Amino acid sequence: MSVVQSQELEAQLQSIHQEAQASLAQAETLDQLEQLRVKYLGKKGPIPQVLGGMGKLDPSDRPKIGALANEIKEAIQADIERRRVDLEAAQIQAQLESETIDVTMPGIFRPQGRVHPLNAMMDRVIDIFVGMGYTVADGPEMESDYYNFEALNFPPDHPARDMQDTLFLPDGNLLRTHTSSVQIRYMENNEPPVRIIIPGRCYRRDAVDSTHTAVFHQIEFLAIDEGLTFTDLKGTLKVLLEQLFGEVPIRLRPSFFPFTEPSVEVDLQWKGRWLEIMGCGMVDPNVLKAVGYDPEVYTGFAGGMGVERLAQVLHQLDDIRRLYSSDLRFLNQF
Ligand code: DAH
Repeated sequence: MSVVQSQELEAQLQSIHQEAQASLAQAETLDQLEQLRVKYLGKKGPIPQVLGGMGKLDPSDRPKIGALANEIKEAIQADIERRRVDLEAAQIQAQLESETIDVTMPGIFRPQGRVHPLNAMMDRVIDIFVGMGYTVADGPEMESDYYNFEALNFPPDHPARDMQDTLFLPDGNLLRTHTSSVQIRYMENNEPPVRIIIPGRCYRRDAVDSTHTAVFHQIEFLAIDEGLTFTDLKGTLKVLLEQLFGEVPIRLRPSFFPFTEPSVEVDLQWKGRWLEIMGCGMVDPNVLKAVGYDPEVYTGFAGGMGVERLAQVLHQLDDIRRLYSSDLRFLNQF
């Protein structure tokens, strides 16, 4: 009687094992595997159920059945572990395959913007002056006669006013014809010493041609201190022009501006030709008086250059209007 019962339990345990093995072989995912683990090895699983029937067994048979149950439990456990390793490896493999980069595929062209040659030119000049201790200042493009002319020592009927064909506004203001107006605005609000650089847009009633536009850019520089002389101006020009153009011959020609005395025009020999690139000079005592600086104590120098002009010289442009044409075939060369 007890022999039959013990064989029956043995057979039950063996069939649980077989069933478990078959199901495990079919588990496709780690989730399914976990469900099977709970099903076969959990507290409510089939093995504890079989063991529950041991009470009917002859006590001498119980250890054998108990040992067999443990063996099968461990075997199922081991099968699950093996399957888990396989499934994990398969998962990693699948992930690697889905993430492979096909280096033979054509690339994606992403057009890159770049700095406009005019801005690049301004940045270069600003960097050089900043390297000499200057800071950047700016002012309004709509100006009054006072800042654009009067405080800069242009008398009301001085012929110098005719040098600048000015765009006047209906209210009596004007579009600044040069960045020199910012010299006055800055000095009115700051005590010497002064070392400033003023980049900005200017306007003139010029007929537009290959070397003139009605809207253009200037960079102005101004230094005021005790004891500044013309040699300081020359030294500053040398540093600026050497860094921009390299070691090229430079020539200073006497000139005239109402706001500087003496005044000079700076020429530079470039590709075999003398090219005029800026005006500069020692700040006229009348300008210092206009802003309340004592010309007996302070002296200084100033200068202004056209940015389009510099770019034209440096890049040998045939026509400065190209700088405003937004033609990418032109702009992409810089
Ligand atoms: N403002 C002059 C112009 O537009 C350029 C210039 C000349 C500026 C001499 C200066 C200077 O500061 O000292 O042509």
